Amino acid sequence: MNNRSIGVFDSGLGGLTAVKQIMKELPNENIIYFGDTGRVPYGTRSRDTILKYTRGDIRFLKTFDVKMIVIACGTASSAALPAIKDEFDIPIVGVIDAAVYAAVRSTKNKKIGVIGTQGTIKSGEYEKQIKAYDSEMQVFNRACPMFVPLVENGYFDSPVTKLLVEEYLEEIRSAGVDTLILGCTHYPLLAKTISEYMGDGVTLINPGAEVAKYLKKKLAGETAHSGKTDKTQYHYYVSDDIAGFEQLGGIFLEREINGQVTKIDIEKY
Ligand code: DGL
Repeated sequence: MNNRSIGVFDSGLGGLTAVKQIMKELPNENIIYFGDTGRVPYGTRSRDTILKYTRGDIRFLKTFDVKMIVIACGTASSAALPAIKDEFDIPIVGVIDAAVYAAVRSTKNKKIGVIGTQGTIKSGEYEKQIKAYDSEMQVFNRACPMFVPLVENGYFDSPVTKLLVEEYLEEIRSAGVDTLILGCTHYPLLAKTISEYMGDGVTLINPGAEVAKYLKKKLAGETAHSGKTDKTQYHYYVSDDIAGFEQLGGIFLEREINGQVTKIDIEKY
């Protein structure tokens, strides 16, 4: 048994879509979440800045003696993780591998759409990994930079969200994909609007849900699954306003998180 917490981070609120699924799949695991709300978004930043932020986020979570770190951010997972994974003496899991694994199993026509931040799409990581499974796969990529601010402000299915979904996804829909990777952990909050536009024939892949399934298998295999029987503990840390995070985070997680959020100075790490 290993009762140490799982550390999870994202640039902001989006990673809570992964946390929600981890809570569901692994209800006994303690979780420490860091949302870098003072520096969101990561997706429009240079690779060097994403690397710097990712290293700092990992160093911060490591101060809690966590047993592993989940990068619940598509941007940091694709633009930073391949370069930094060997710098730390702790298992670090990103969201790309699990999402790709699910997508290549889902597609029948070998046409997969990938949407994400500019950083994620520019890294080419999703396409590289999909083609490593099967070089005949056709991948249609699109960066959707306006989606993160929409989600961070709670615009999940407003008219402006619908307009932007149409603007960003038109080409991918016309290409006839049957599977679409929501390659940024903020995007599952827009899943309803995206799915209505893409149609019933298109399977949406939620990276947070896929990484949670992966963790369930991984922790069972290593008998590291927490054996706690008393109440599981969740702690949340942010680098900016607590009240906004408590309010929207509570909606994301569908659970009350008031009083469980602490503000920290991430620049120190
Ligand atoms: N949730 C993030 C991702 O998965 C980050 C979005 C951003 O900070 O730009 O890419």
